[in-house]
Amino acid sequence: MEDYKAWAEEVLDKVRDKMAWVSEKNKDKIPYTTDADGNYDDRADENKEWSRDDGLNWWTNGFWGGIMWLLYQDTREEKYADIARKSERKLEKCFETYYGLHHDVGFMFQPTAVADYRLTGDQDAKRVAMHAANLLAGRFNPVGKYIRAWNEVGDSDTRGWAIIDCMFNISLLYWASEESGDPRFRQIAMMHADTVLESFLRPDGSVCHIVEFDPEHGGMVKSHGGQGFGEGSSWTRGQGWAVYGFANSYSHTGKQEYLDAAKRCAHYCMANLSQSGIIPVDFRQPPEPAWEDSCGACVIAGGLLEIAKHVPVSEKDMYIRAAVKILKAIADTRADWTGGCDAIVQNCTGAYHSDTHHITMVYADYYFIEALYKLAGKGILIW
Ligand code: GLY
Repeated sequence: MEDYKAWAEEVLDKVRDKMAWVSEKNKDKIPYTTDADGNYDDRADENKEWSRDDGLNWWTNGFWGGIMWLLYQDTREEKYADIARKSERKLEKCFETYYGLHHDVGFMFQPTAVADYRLTGDQDAKRVAMHAANLLAGRFNPVGKYIRAWNEVGDSDTRGWAIIDCMFNISLLYWASEESGDPRFRQIAMMHADTVLESFLRPDGSVCHIVEFDPEHGGMVKSHGGQGFGEGSSWTRGQGWAVYGFANSYSHTGKQEYLDAAKRCAHYCMANLSQSGIIPVDFRQPPEPAWEDSCGACVIAGGLLEIAKHVPVSEKDMYIRAAVKILKAIADTRADWTGGCDAIVQNCTGAYHSDTHHITMVYADYYFIEALYKLAGKGILIW
């Protein structure tokens, strides 16, 4: 099993080569996806008319900076820190507009401001991250004991909506408590995680994407299919947010139930993993069309590696082997190592019922690179 480290280093060589020119070419942008010619877009382009939470405050806008910090900690090349900081200064402007920010301030500011502060001690980064943590804490519903997810979704009343993805956002709250010594942030994170344990996890280890609570009196109202195939299905990226998110909660709190939950969700993923290691958009989708989500794959792999850090030696290999299988499928069959596309990871899907499938998404590259560093023994604490 030890050769997985050498394999990860080999792939990281290709990542370093590719990101050297991709970062230079896109140093003034905050990309999300590539166009038909393989060029990254720019979600921070102030000349574009994005809708309210689809512009600078787009939820994935922290991952570009996150990739830069991962490369910086490895190479120590200042250009990566400079590009990351440039994106951070832009993201900070979202606090002024305020509207459009929601629970994904965690995804936005954890791999940027928190990573920056942890790596460099920068006080501006700390200020930005604390600001974001306070906004996230402010979304907590004390009666329902959940963090409200989004603001507006069509005509739906979303005051009672919580989503599995938030298991990642709460890392910002753990950091804020660890940094400030104020337990409120951690208490909110744990109350939310406990609610997710109770209401999102199914007995077989699969999870709901969206659960609606009564915002006035608490209590679960119903679940929604969300980005997966439908109600009662099993959106794979959501499985990844659960596996990795519960493992993170265990890392920060030591609460055994969180590790048990991470393992339960992980075993469900491993039991449903195909021979090819390719991950569908939903584990319960029909065989055709065979939509894939390489991004979900990378998140699940990262979660399996996080669990492997916390289990006895006798159990580690099982999680690492499954993660390597998934990552190899990506590196060998779903990665673009050419100069023809700015993104590495291909065949990502935002949601099962999206109009477009098999696109690139910057956070797939982020989780792919992060997982490779973990595997190579060079991981840093981001979440
Ligand atoms: N957090 C939203 C998504 O995974 O698409």
